[in-house]
Amino acid sequence: MSYPYQIKSLKEYQEAYKESVENPEAFWGNVAESFTWKKKWDKVLEWNFKEPSIKWFQGGKLNITENCIDRHLETNADTPAIIWEPNNPEDHYRVLTYRELHHKVMQFANVLKNNGVKKGHRVCIYMGMVPELAIAALACARIGAVHSVIFGGFSAQSIADRINDAQATVVVTSDGSFRGNKVVPLKETIDDALMSCPSVKRVIVSTHTRTPVSMIKGRDCWWEDEIKIVETDGNPYCPAEEMDAEDLLFILYTSGSTGKPKGVVHTVAGYLIWTTYTFVNVFQYQPGQVHFCTADIGWITGHSYLLYGPLAAGATTLMFEGVPTYPNASRLWDIVDNYKVNILYTAPTAIRSLMGFGLEPLVGKKLTSLKVLGTVGEPINEEAWNWYNEHIGKNRCPIVDTWWQTETGGVLISNIAGVTPSKPSYATWPLPGVVPALVDETGKELEGNDVSGNLVIKQPWPGILRTTYGDHERMRQTYFSTYDNQYFTGDGCYRDENAMYRITGRVDDVLNVSGHRIGTAEVENAINMHAGVIESAVVGYPHAIKGQGIYAYVMYNGRSNNEPELTRQDILATVTRLIGPIAKPDKIQFVSGLPKTRSGKIMRRILRKIAEGEINNIGDTSTLLDPLIVEEIKHNRL
Ligand code: WTA
Repeated sequence: MSYPYQIKSLKEYQEAYKESVENPEAFWGNVAESFTWKKKWDKVLEWNFKEPSIKWFQGGKLNITENCIDRHLETNADTPAIIWEPNNPEDHYRVLTYRELHHKVMQFANVLKNNGVKKGHRVCIYMGMVPELAIAALACARIGAVHSVIFGGFSAQSIADRINDAQATVVVTSDGSFRGNKVVPLKETIDDALMSCPSVKRVIVSTHTRTPVSMIKGRDCWWEDEIKIVETDGNPYCPAEEMDAEDLLFILYTSGSTGKPKGVVHTVAGYLIWTTYTFVNVFQYQPGQVHFCTADIGWITGHSYLLYGPLAAGATTLMFEGVPTYPNASRLWDIVDNYKVNILYTAPTAIRSLMGFGLEPLVGKKLTSLKVLGTVGEPINEEAWNWYNEHIGKNRCPIVDTWWQTETGGVLISNIAGVTPSKPSYATWPLPGVVPALVDETGKELEGNDVSGNLVIKQPWPGILRTTYGDHERMRQTYFSTYDNQYFTGDGCYRDENAMYRITGRVDDVLNVSGHRIGTAEVENAINMHAGVIESAVVGYPHAIKGQGIYAYVMYNGRSNNEPELTRQDILATVTRLIGPIAKPDKIQFVSGLPKTRSGKIMRRILRKIAEGEINNIGDTSTLLDPLIVEEIKHNRL
């Protein structure tokens, strides 16, 4: 596989950037020539950010699995496509070559068809990090079904909300999954969710943990049995459905500032081209290398840089079922040495947590195969950046700090490994096709350098979201109504004297906890569901490992009022049940009231300051209905 669009020097970057923003149609049309089409496009780009309406490669016909699998068969059929490392290092690893992946994807695509899945249907996938997850997602894409992968840590209620929003007809899951020393009963959670999901007609369950499950007659079937049926049919072949460039590829739910997660929609051609282009460029992937992205496929990073981007580039992608600290804090380094990993892509939270174990877990680890390191998901502090650079990269591997979002499909701002300069805690310069700008509260663009503002993007790139599922107006409202004709990222940002960008964090009511996006309104809604809770307010605060922690102020007047510890546990159980353990507040402070303006609005600014510990710097409280409440909250702060 060769990548004619791979940027090899600073000069090439500058030229590509200029061409891409001055003449996007010619630029991306040229990149698109390196992909496999059933029919070429009529028009490269048509867009407006008003409606908004964004269409890339209109009239083009293709299937993403032909790009991710079939086209590699001629010369690279025996190249490992997926290496799977199990949770327990004593268990057997698995390798799927491109030939084997092709076979398994077609088999399961036929299983989906046998179970009534048709082009355009939505299929919910709720699994741990096993190859079957990748196979199921690709099988959907093979037949033109739209996958909606739900992270294995979400609760039954969250799953039900997402299934109902997408009106999914089929669920693919496992009996359970292994994570560190835990067994997660996935099928049991699905069973709870499906009590309120009438659209689901079929559940396909793959065997993994051998956790006992209840299989409902007429609804549930085993993955392995269904494969046998396909095998006895004798014809494993499944043609790749001809898809329109702008047909839906997948839905992925993400949190925003309202209580209800939204289904971000990506479409076939633009997403394929953006993830492949950014994968090959940012990480400077070379054929034969092993790429290890530690993200779960339940999040966008797993979709784009574990699955689609690497496979489209014909890469070997390593999929790890477990967690970095199991059975001990050497785990990632053992994986790197065992499989001679060349590119390691992980989150600052993982780096900070491993830093906490000191250097002992690194004793005897070679790490000589590493060529490029990457980080994603949250701002990286300089201390973590330096540790990663010194102890993992041994000062010889470029670190790419990749800024992007579920909505952007792939990386927008990042240095290019070894090609453009890096700067600790800076995502640095935009990739070709990306035109960032900083604006003030009123929408006025801040020109020049050494300025801070809200980050917006002025032109579409191929990987931008196309809609929010079932509610296009919501997409307009959320991203295109704050500033005229610009995509609003929700992030604050600083541009330094060299025009390098440093993302400073969300400016809306979205928290970033261990690199996971969680809306404060979602957490508040969950807390407020608990009997006895009158009202609550949730804010973020700096957390040494997670980046941000969740701080909840709760007005409570219910049972066991004088047993605050029990109440705290009850509230945590409620949040876990309604959202999942990732949304559990780190701190819960009981309060007798919340600081509100006379019009009844909670002044979060004050609560944020208190949570951050800046109690002497609260600012103006004169507009509060009851300024005394601030004193009480300050006094009892956790
Ligand atoms: C944050 C994850 C600083 C940011 C790919 C963004 C980052 C949100 C970085 C999206 C980075 C992501 N530096 N902040 N390199 N990468 N973020 O949708 O606030 O899960 O808006 O996508 O993560 O989170 P999401």
